Amino acid sequence: MPGAGVVLSDGFNVDRIEAPVTFKAYILCAFAAFGGIFFGYDSGYINGIMGMKYFIQEFGNGSATISSSTKSLIVSILSVGTFLGALVAGDLADSIGRRTTIILGCAIFCVGAALQCASAAPKMLIGGRFVAGIGVGFVSAIIILYMSEVAPRKVRGAIVSAYQFCVTIGIMLASVVTYGTQNYTTSASYRVPIGIQFAWALILGVGLFFLPESPRYHVRHGDLEKASHALSRVRGTPETSSYIKEELAEIVANHEYEMQAVPHTGYFSSWTNCFKGSIRKPDSNLRRTILGTSLQMMQQATGVNFIFYYSTSFFQLLNLGVDPFLLSLITTLINVLSTPISFWTVERFGRRPLLIWGALGMVVCQYLVAILGTVAGGDKTVVKAEIAFVCIYIFFFASTWGPAAWVVIGEVFNLPMRSRGVALSTSSNWLFNFIVALITPQMVDPDKGNLREKVFFV
Ligand code: BGC
Repeated sequence: MPGAGVVLSDGFNVDRIEAPVTFKAYILCAFAAFGGIFFGYDSGYINGIMGMKYFIQEFGNGSATISSSTKSLIVSILSVGTFLGALVAGDLADSIGRRTTIILGCAIFCVGAALQCASAAPKMLIGGRFVAGIGVGFVSAIIILYMSEVAPRKVRGAIVSAYQFCVTIGIMLASVVTYGTQNYTTSASYRVPIGIQFAWALILGVGLFFLPESPRYHVRHGDLEKASHALSRVRGTPETSSYIKEELAEIVANHEYEMQAVPHTGYFSSWTNCFKGSIRKPDSNLRRTILGTSLQMMQQATGVNFIFYYSTSFFQLLNLGVDPFLLSLITTLINVLSTPISFWTVERFGRRPLLIWGALGMVVCQYLVAILGTVAGGDKTVVKAEIAFVCIYIFFFASTWGPAAWVVIGEVFNLPMRSRGVALSTSSNWLFNFIVALITPQMVDPDKGNLREKVFFV
């Protein structure tokens, strides 16, 4: 009897029967992973823009710098929007569907991008980033949910890692574009990088019209006919095939079991459901929620976005004599090239060892940067070594915590609480993303905390 008292380690319980993975199934998941470019580009372009002469003059009211507080607000406000967006997206995804929520996210995002493009002063840019953030929040939370639900089980980890790979490509593309426009002496310097975002939203939004809804969403709503149709599309196998029939039966049995085992109210188990059970019980909802949210919190607490948001300004501060835009571009390239390692390691070694080893690698590198900066900061050779350790630290992040944190939240929740659990965890990511974006310039900048490299101790 599927699911009879069994809670399997992957949180999807009993989906053991699956059609062979077809090329079409891969393409479908790969397209959904494209949402990562959207997320990555949007968080990445601000890094380069903040270091541009034209932008600094225009948004800094003619002065040679933008104040730390305006800088942190411009960067971090996106995460406030994404936090709120991700929080409500779970409920929306349960009521209007995963796919529709993502499409809606793309539309909201376009409004925010238009405001940013039109801006010539901080207030409008900040407003635009807040609105765009809501859209990114929808997309970042629900793409993970959608992909985890439609991906064939045996490649689910790798597919979600592919999403993270797209995030890194998005960040790198943003870096390439800002590198290209940095010396423009008109508003095109920042408007071009901002405007390019429309392309990602359009490709994702329009493309999703052609993708099926998640079969689990239909099962949740008791519509087995649609569920069977959607499943046959995501597997690239006819509805009449025994694979589809059996997999659908498994999903239904699994869903029924979870609905019995987990307290819920109708279709929409209450928010409190996410916090039920004892923290000591390995399969309690509370424990799953704490795991998902703290994992995402810690992913941000690694401080990786200090690099992806502020590396251009930070490298300017270190004054190595090498173009800081180029150095930032290199960090994003390392991020891209290191992520695919996880496609294999996440399945081969498992999520937990990857997280443990990755954390260890990052700690060592960060302490080395901080110690070198404290002992001999300013010496050009030492600064070069610091930058090398920053790069190795990015390597550790990209091959471990970057993807694994997303993979785990995609699989740790049972169906009745999954959309809310993923949404809560994603919100936690954005909340701590916001905190890091807000406080790091205050800690690092010479006119504030002046921690410089010592920030890596934190
Ligand atoms: C994180 C982002 C980060 C990116 C870097 C993602 O997993 O959630 O905040 O910018 O990785 O590649």
